[in-house]
Amino acid sequence: MSHIDGCSFTIASDGINPDEVPTRTLYTGAKIPAIGLGTFGSDRFSGQAIAKAVVGAAEVGYRHFDCADVYGNEHLVGEALQKIIKGGIRREKLWVTSKLWNDKHAEEDVIPACRKSLEDLQLDYLDLYLIHWPFPNYHAPGVDVTSRDPSAKPYIHENYMKTWRQMEKLVDMGLVRHIGTSNMTIPKLRLLLQDARIKPACNQMELHPHFQQPGLFDFCVQHDIVPIGFSPIGSPNRPFRDRSPEDTAAIEDPVIVKIAERLGVHPAIVCLKWAVQRGQVPIPFSIKREQYLGNLRCTLTEPLTEEEMQEIAAIDKNCRLIKGQVFLWKDGQHWEDLWDPTGEITSA
Ligand SMILES: NC(=O)c1ccc[n+]([C@@H]2O[C@H](COP(=O)([O-])OP(=O)(O)OC[C@H]3O[C@@H](n4cnc5c(N)ncnc54)[C@H](OP(=O)(O)O)[C@@H]3O)[C@@H](O)[C@H]2O)c1
Repeated sequence: MSHIDGCSFTIASDGINPDEVPTRTLYTGAKIPAIGLGTFGSDRFSGQAIAKAVVGAAEVGYRHFDCADVYGNEHLVGEALQKIIKGGIRREKLWVTSKLWNDKHAEEDVIPACRKSLEDLQLDYLDLYLIHWPFPNYHAPGVDVTSRDPSAKPYIHENYMKTWRQMEKLVDMGLVRHIGTSNMTIPKLRLLLQDARIKPACNQMELHPHFQQPGLFDFCVQHDIVPIGFSPIGSPNRPFRDRSPEDTAAIEDPVIVKIAERLGVHPAIVCLKWAVQRGQVPIPFSIKREQYLGNLRCTLTEPLTEEEMQEIAAIDKNCRLIKGQVFLWKDGQHWEDLWDPTGEITSA
């Protein structure tokens, strides 16, 4: 029995023509829709509700879905994808991303982990498979930021490459069309580019007006790696464990609010317009039809002016929200150590 019964697929009359949604071209020539739907419910929404939103989003014109094993809902998203495909949308018209979780980096675990995601998602292949984090450290879902894996290790390039070789095999096997990275830094990507047989097509990274990562963004673009931006609205309802007193909110920034007032839209829409115009692929999350439809539509409507783009460039606060504290591997470290602040990989 389906978990999302009562939910059928019908193209919405007020939706967006998916062929009109902008795309980005990867180094392989493949095109990825320039906006996708996130599927991490931040512990607030059930997998069923998210799966229904996937169907609803496809009805209004989304073709790109960002998934991950660790979100715990791929088996339900898979039911949604089946409804969409059975409803007449050809598989080749969809872009589905999934991610390898941190406890599956061992050589023998990578291919089975990908097969599990494929089975859950009810697909023969993924368009993109990412290594979710460059650290193999295990922590249980939902743990507090003070939680540590007693066997946690720093980034070890030799080990990362062992994982990457298996990712490359997945491409050779036809199970995955593209492979990529997530939560990386420039020095880590430099090493990967030097040693990869199949280079990363995309890097998924936190990107919103208060965390623009200009150095990493430019590095990706220069190396023909498409930046995919997570938490593009600044993840206003992220779990409490991911909140710190020093965090700022892009959607409350006076510049964003002013532009939103000019356009008569929610500040979230300004964040997404900025993202697409800058050249990253945002993957906003929402299960609310009005929001996800508006998020898609805004990629086609009135662009921000050049002056507004410059004003937004000037409000970067280098405010990382998803800090990754649980990956720290020894006492006395600061979360910034995970992000190679000196430009060298923090290895000890
Ligand atoms: N690679 C990684 O490590 C990583 C990390 C984090 C996230 N991700 C991916 O990125 C996706 C998005 O990130 P995120 O969920 O953290 O943050 P986000 O997309 O920045 O924020 C999502 C929240 O913004 C609100 N929202 C969405 N559209 C809106 C609109 N039009 N108007 C007003 N509010 C709106 C919704 O709040 P309400 O629900 O309250 O309305 C929603 O819960 C995730 O779902 C996941 O797929 C990847």
